[in-house]
Amino acid sequence: MVKPLTRAVFPVAGLGTRFLPATKASPKEMLPIVDKPLIQYAAEEAIAAGIDELIFVTGRNKRSIEDHFDKAYELETELEAKGKNGLLDMVRTVLPHNVSCVYIRQAEPLGLGHAVLCAKQVVGNEPFAVILADDLISAEPKALQQMVDLYEHYRCSVVGVQNVAREETSAYGIVRGTKVADRLYKMEAIVEKPKPEAAPSTMGVVGRYLLTPRVFALLEKVQRGAGGEIQLTDGIAALLRYEAIYAYEFSGKRYDCGNKLGYLQATVEYALAHPELHRDFRAYLKSLKL
Ligand code: UTP
Repeated sequence: MVKPLTRAVFPVAGLGTRFLPATKASPKEMLPIVDKPLIQYAAEEAIAAGIDELIFVTGRNKRSIEDHFDKAYELETELEAKGKNGLLDMVRTVLPHNVSCVYIRQAEPLGLGHAVLCAKQVVGNEPFAVILADDLISAEPKALQQMVDLYEHYRCSVVGVQNVAREETSAYGIVRGTKVADRLYKMEAIVEKPKPEAAPSTMGVVGRYLLTPRVFALLEKVQRGAGGEIQLTDGIAALLRYEAIYAYEFSGKRYDCGNKLGYLQATVEYALAHPELHRDFRAYLKSLKL
């Protein structure tokens, strides 16, 4: 039997410049989509895929994420005293009892590859997941679960990909691969942020990765790449020289909540699907007569 994946790394140390000033004192991963912060959607996706150790790589504003997943004594006491049991339950179950959290500091935002490398000691010599919470994916089964199923079959690293517009390739890691099954490609090359005319395909990497631990030693040697940052893509490109890697076009809808338009699209669509809100919100949108 394949050893189950139990650890997920959440890099949350980016500067979030596209969301300033909202991200001045709080990480962008704490931005809510309707009533839940992005990081909680990501944690729930990991937990649903069998992960029970959440490793957050935090930057200068780490407090709010730690507080979010910690016990909130004062709030719980207040809710209990007021008999608000539904809300009390909601607050208490943000994190199931069997799940633990570890916080690691990335002293400087040197790039996503560097952030992942910061988790090396905690992850150890085990395969692990990386989830970028600002890529919100609505899917059933959830995107990470789809990838874990593949990992259990192929026992190789798997990266989540999506077809992107050619003019947008310079915002993504781009993969070239050979199709081996429905939605699945054996990776041949991966490059970070190629210009549209240089991109080897339009298969863009989105924020879901299952990686083997060899990537850590390779990331240690990666030089600053695109944007002057240590890129995870370059670590994956190095890994490809030693191991097979698959690119998986997950089924589901992805919202790029790292930019304002994607964030608003997610907010509107999640509100339209929200059990308490959907009717009133739909009526409100209709009333706008756009
Ligand atoms: P982005 O490329 O979206 O950068 O990072 P950013 O700083 O968060 O946002 P902008 O572009 O300035 O608006 C992708 C992911 O990698 C994390 C981010 O938190 C995000 O989840 N990251 C990035 C780190 O943890 N550390 C870094 O040094 C860079």
